[in-house]
Amino acid sequence: MLENVQRSWFDHYMVPCFSPAKFIPVRAKGSKVWDQEGKEYIDFAGGIAVNSLGHAHPELKDELISQIEKLWHIGNGYTNESVLKLAKKLVENTFADKAFFCNSGAEANEAALKLARKYAADKYGKNKSEIISFKDSFHGRTLFTVTVGGQPKYSQDYAPLPQEITHLPYNNLSAIREHISENTCAVIVEPIIGEGGVIPADPAFLQELRTLCDRFQALLIFDEIQTGVGRTGYLYAYQEYGVEPDILTSAKGLGGGFPIGAMLTKQHIAAVFQPGTHGTTFGGNPLAAAVADRVVSIVNQAELLTGVLQRHDYFMDKLSKLNQRYQIFSCLRGKGLLLGAELDKAWQGKAKQLTNLAAEEGLIALIAGPDVLRFAPALNIDFSDIDEGLVRLESAIMRFVS
Ligand SMILES: Cc1ncc(COP(=O)(O)O)c(C=O)c1O
Repeated sequence: MLENVQRSWFDHYMVPCFSPAKFIPVRAKGSKVWDQEGKEYIDFAGGIAVNSLGHAHPELKDELISQIEKLWHIGNGYTNESVLKLAKKLVENTFADKAFFCNSGAEANEAALKLARKYAADKYGKNKSEIISFKDSFHGRTLFTVTVGGQPKYSQDYAPLPQEITHLPYNNLSAIREHISENTCAVIVEPIIGEGGVIPADPAFLQELRTLCDRFQALLIFDEIQTGVGRTGYLYAYQEYGVEPDILTSAKGLGGGFPIGAMLTKQHIAAVFQPGTHGTTFGGNPLAAAVADRVVSIVNQAELLTGVLQRHDYFMDKLSKLNQRYQIFSCLRGKGLLLGAELDKAWQGKAKQLTNLAAEEGLIALIAGPDVLRFAPALNIDFSDIDEGLVRLESAIMRFVS
């Protein structure tokens, strides 16, 4: 007899480093998700900015199935057609000359940080090793990336931590001007701080980082793991800001739900990674690369990218009207379909409580820290799903404030 899978199994059998919702999603299509009981949810989370084209996109399904028939895995002793197509596409559509593939955002940043350290050591000597990052940033969960991230709560339990890492306030020009030096090998920055509160960089801040990195021969790394692949209405957010990094990391939406990460860089920097200096078993896997190649082809079209900007305006307009009725958010911000709604003073610390109520009303939403609701729906979400999701959010807010 078939055993029914229970949510309680999570507590019995799984390492408790997550606290998943009480329901188990079993099926999804577009921007709708259904749980074991058949209850429907509108998905404003997109798997944390991952399901860039919604769930079960027919072209991605076809691509995956077609690659499944051909080649699943071959290892990096051989290259494969899917990864070559993807690398060519990313290089042809960005500042980069070269691509490296891995399986997650943390691994992409790990590769970027290792590359920056090695580039500086090879070219300028061992003293040039400092990495500057920013408070409230998030760069992943490996020991190196969690230490580089600007949220001590994620790294403090794992000492001793990697050294020569400095955290400065974000969007603060004088702090970086005063601190950066000949010993800095890299500056890593999210063009929009995602997990740490959905805070867009000021254009002048990114511009100044570029200027200072050039002056001090430091590499500028853009972590576009959350902002990349159409999320802001541009293939990558740097393209709107008009500031080019030396290294860019991408993951999340790149695979549209299939795990893949990428690090993009210039030829002269890539050249310090020779065979044996860095690697991965699964990176550039043909299944992941085939899906990602199709994701990039679909996303990088004017109609889709313009659609993201239209959805931004539509979503923000409705959200601000909703807020006029309840006055619970002090600030609505973000770019494209990476949106944040900061709870006003009276409600601070209660973002999770609100998303829990939203789930009861049939809406999946995210938080970005204890005070901010975060929305990262599919880039092609139907306008009617935005409408319905916000109706359900309103029902949750009515219960939240009462
Ligand atoms: C900006 C940013 N960098 C890195 C990561 C880490 O990515 P992953 O969880 O795939 O390792 C995340 C994930 O939330 C992120 O938002």
